[in-house]
Amino acid sequence: MSWITVCGGGNGAHALIGTLLLRDNRIQIRLYLPIEEERSRFAEAISCQPSFELRVTGKVYSVASKRIHVTADPKEAARSSVIIMVVPAFAHEPILLQLAPYLTKENTIAALPARSGLEYQACDILGKVGQNGCVLVGFQTLPWACRIKEFGRSVIIHGTKKRVGAACLPKKEIGEKAKIFSTLLGMDVIPYRSMLELSLANTGQLIHPGIMYSVFRNRRTEVFPSEDEVPLFYASVDGEAAEFLSRMSDEVLTIKDTVEQERPGFKIPSVVHLSQWLLDAYGDDIRGTANLARMFQSNQGYQTLRVPVKKVDSGYRVNVKVRYLTEDLPFGLLVTKGIASAVGVETPTIDEVITKTSAWIGKEYLINGRLIGRDVITTRAPQRYGIDSLEGLVR
Ligand code: NAI
Repeated sequence: MSWITVCGGGNGAHALIGTLLLRDNRIQIRLYLPIEEERSRFAEAISCQPSFELRVTGKVYSVASKRIHVTADPKEAARSSVIIMVVPAFAHEPILLQLAPYLTKENTIAALPARSGLEYQACDILGKVGQNGCVLVGFQTLPWACRIKEFGRSVIIHGTKKRVGAACLPKKEIGEKAKIFSTLLGMDVIPYRSMLELSLANTGQLIHPGIMYSVFRNRRTEVFPSEDEVPLFYASVDGEAAEFLSRMSDEVLTIKDTVEQERPGFKIPSVVHLSQWLLDAYGDDIRGTANLARMFQSNQGYQTLRVPVKKVDSGYRVNVKVRYLTEDLPFGLLVTKGIASAVGVETPTIDEVITKTSAWIGKEYLINGRLIGRDVITTRAPQRYGIDSLEGLVR
């Protein structure tokens, strides 16, 4: 029997728990839930219902709930050799701080997904990562589009990615860890060469803040009378917005080229232009490939998700205080800006997005294009951890 610790009780954690238990009936889950209210709800749900359900494309799979053991004890959570955090990036820090005293070189701690800059934060907190300490694994994305159906009991998987990229610290471990996680998750885990590659290959950091700014900056006060009239999010990208997103992507490619030129032998192959990434990720789901705007508009996977809104008296208005900005700026675009700054690359388009959208959510990151705003301390920009050179990034 092997124990795996899952940290998190949201949509992704439900999908992961169901997937792990279904794939191998020797697995038991230690579910680490430090938030009291969530922990008691989960414990109650599994005590009242003998099975935990995973619903995938109309089929219902059941596993025994008694294989899930809920705990608030970080020492117990750290007893499993594999620990997987399935939480938004802002929750990595408290969880790492709680587990840190109990982690040893026997532990592998993974973030599913990692977002950007996890390596700097984890090294800062765990100290020994990459030396004699535990192994850190970061995943490029959550493998599923999923939603809880009934808390602690049932989850629906709407879509599963065919493969997911992952990087590791120390990086020599990635081959072995990719194999282990491929088996656990039941999908190809593609080994990335470095955590830097993982941070720069995070496309959500371009797409989410980029679309919020380029498509919706002039529609923030507009009231949509009904839910049906709320515009689609991804599929609203027009020619002008696509051109803007393309410029953001080009700036990331310039960072990649600069790193590769200055460090011959250091390669970052997974960082590609947004249009290439869309084609690789969605393949035949993209019906029109003539240009980037058509790719967004014709992607079948993008035809239902609408721009996030909040209810107002006369209808719905765009909600800017959502993870597209509150997560993708501090744990995405700000990290990229920090990497650019460390290697001396100008990023005027990315700077514009950060400066304007951070003001919408009441944050100050950049002042005159420099990472000196009061809220940089809450991001995972490498400079927050005292790293401000290519040497430091690569090390
Ligand atoms: P969620 O909002 O359903 O769950 C968040 C969970 O994080 C909470 O239930 C709680 O267990 C945990 N948490 C929050 N603050 C915490 C803290 N301070 N300490 C400890 N735990 C804390 O989020 P979801 O949907 O599970 O997403 C997880 C990550 O996966 C996010 O980064 C999200 O953007 C990403 N993602 C989710 C997708 C989905 O379909 N659900 C698709 C693609 C990415």
